[in-house]
Amino acid sequence: EKGGYEHFMLKEIFEQPRSILDSMRGRLELGGSHLNMAGFRAYEQKFVNAQRIIIVACGTSWHAGLVAEYLIEDLARVPVEVEYASEFRYRNPVISERDIVIAISQSGETADTLAALELAKSKGATIFGICNVVGSSIARATDAGAYTHAGPEIGVASTKAFTAQVTVLTLLAMCIGQRRGTLSDTKLRELVAELHNIPSKVEKALKLDAEIREIAETFKDVPNFLYLGRGYNFPVALEGALKLKEISYIHAEGYPAAEMKHGPIALIDENMPVVVIATKDSSYEKVVSNIQEVKARKGRIIAVVTEGDTTIPAMAEYVIEVPHTSEILMPLVSVVPLQLLSYHIAVLRGCNVDQPRNLAKSVTVE
Ligand code: M6R
Repeated sequence: EKGGYEHFMLKEIFEQPRSILDSMRGRLELGGSHLNMAGFRAYEQKFVNAQRIIIVACGTSWHAGLVAEYLIEDLARVPVEVEYASEFRYRNPVISERDIVIAISQSGETADTLAALELAKSKGATIFGICNVVGSSIARATDAGAYTHAGPEIGVASTKAFTAQVTVLTLLAMCIGQRRGTLSDTKLRELVAELHNIPSKVEKALKLDAEIREIAETFKDVPNFLYLGRGYNFPVALEGALKLKEISYIHAEGYPAAEMKHGPIALIDENMPVVVIATKDSSYEKVVSNIQEVKARKGRIIAVVTEGDTTIPAMAEYVIEVPHTSEILMPLVSVVPLQLLSYHIAVLRGCNVDQPRNLAKSVTVE
């Protein structure tokens, strides 16, 4: 059932070219600008008139929500707030009938996410679900939604569910942008074309597996890790750190790269590995400066860069090259080496990667 892989997590990481395709299937046509999302169509007018979109989720799904904040604000120009479901539900939040609340959940059973959604519903907001498990509690509680179609995810550490969530949220942002007239037809067609290239780019990123295993060998015994990224790669930094801590039990923190000098920089010395996601995008130059700052303090840099980058390899101890893609689609590719890095470190440390201690696949109690 593990399809020849040693663990479900590895199988699920390697399934991503297909699962990403499955989450797009039937929803967009190659070369065209016609998007077909039934759940969106049902609430099209609400999305067009929304004054705000609030995303509620936990863990990895919350990271997918952060990517969606960038996507929806960029493409559809609707203000977005991303909330931890557990905080949102207990803080007497301001919610109105013109708000749309999107719950993101792989299992569709997370207690806090379900409760946050029910609270929003009771205040008259339109509620929308992005779930992987068909017929789950959250899917049933929502007015409309979209399934991620990633297939069953068994490993406790979420991998293919995350990329499927990001794919569906990208399509949703495109739908809203198209209907609100904030996304031009040319830009939309470009994105559709590039989305079709994503599965093969993820496939290419998976070929880095052996190289990443070697990096894992070097760092498997360190007590701490720092992950940095900016823009669309900031949530990827958080996700990389979460993956590492939950399965390898190494303490890891993810930060927006620029926040480093407001505290975490004090942690950096010759023993601190710093994973920087530094692909070619609008914040590239800024990230290069952050790498310089880490290097000046002798931090050990592991950089995820765009293929062909010649600047960062001269500064980093290890470089992981991923294929180039549009800035807004980059999380789908840049997260893959981080999933593999945490997987290999955990295996080398003898950890139970599919069922890490103290964790459950669905958190049905608050
Ligand atoms: O099923 P959900 O997406 O609602 O689960 C949310 C979190 O519990 C989940 O993402 C958790 O953080 C994962 N173990 C992360 O890998």
